[in-house]
Amino acid sequence: DLSTSIGGVPLSTCIYNASGPRTGSSAAMAKIAASRSGCVLAKSATVSSQTGNDQPRTWHEENGKASLNSEGLPNNGIDYYIDSKTISETLGDSNKPYMVSISGKTLVDNLLMLGKISNVMKADPSIKIAGVELNLACPNIVGKPTIGYDFDQMEDVLKQVTSLPCFKGSAMFPLGIKMPPYFDRPHFEHAASILNKYKSCISYVASINTIGNALAIDSVAEMPCIRAKGGFAGLSGPAVKYTALANVKQMRELLDESIDVVGVGGVANGIDAFEMILCGASAVQVGTCHWTEGPSCFDRMCSELEGIMREKGYNSIDDFRGKLKEW
Ligand code: DHB
Repeated sequence: DLSTSIGGVPLSTCIYNASGPRTGSSAAMAKIAASRSGCVLAKSATVSSQTGNDQPRTWHEENGKASLNSEGLPNNGIDYYIDSKTISETLGDSNKPYMVSISGKTLVDNLLMLGKISNVMKADPSIKIAGVELNLACPNIVGKPTIGYDFDQMEDVLKQVTSLPCFKGSAMFPLGIKMPPYFDRPHFEHAASILNKYKSCISYVASINTIGNALAIDSVAEMPCIRAKGGFAGLSGPAVKYTALANVKQMRELLDESIDVVGVGGVANGIDAFEMILCGASAVQVGTCHWTEGPSCFDRMCSELEGIMREKGYNSIDDFRGKLKEW
């Protein structure tokens, strides 16, 4: 049994897609919905649609161990991702949770998008938006700091977001926060203490987004592999798994138990998912592997995780979640 829940939202399987790859359109998302992915999470939206950075803006290392992207948030705009037609085309006859991701270019943009989401939910109570992931970790917008690395700004964003009417009383929807990776214990402590201050409004934390500002070089062309930002781009894939596991473990230790942790970063097989759950993840997102392999990766990883659980005699993910043993 791979079922779980995040922020009170039940998922039929604990493995689902990360926001980003293959999540821009309802046609792409419908393939996720048709797979064993436990949820469908849409592409990070901005207020208006935008085409993103010039190509090449993605790069995959030949051995498949690392990828880089600086896409610059190409997306169809928030109205598209909260439109009932998009959602019904995405979900088809599956009744999986559908979640929206927002990555405003400013705090005002994030507040505006959250307002739009609550308005559509008020206007049409049948609209199926199961949760909203607020991305505080996009490293690819020129001239903008990664919010999760600017603790004053992060606190201001969370304070103002959680003051919106949709989070007063019982929140209209579960809120997840997508975090950048941290590398130093005081940074984990600082980030978690800010998140804990707003725990009444935060349902889950998803760690990690890409490791920002990595650089891959084409030695033949003697040029960066990515065009935008001088080639500096977000690193993903198996190369980031160890950083992701550490972030999940630290966040699980430091966050209030009412906040679920979702593990994301370099998950490419059932063992990776198993390790994330041992570190305390309630669910696991898959980004780069979904990008390179396509939506069949969810079916493969679910059966791999089931195989590991069968071998170990575990019936449910609660049998091992957060139960990493100590020396
Ligand atoms: C992009 C990259 C990210 O890591 C992210 O969180 C949002 C957008 C991008 O480049 O499009």
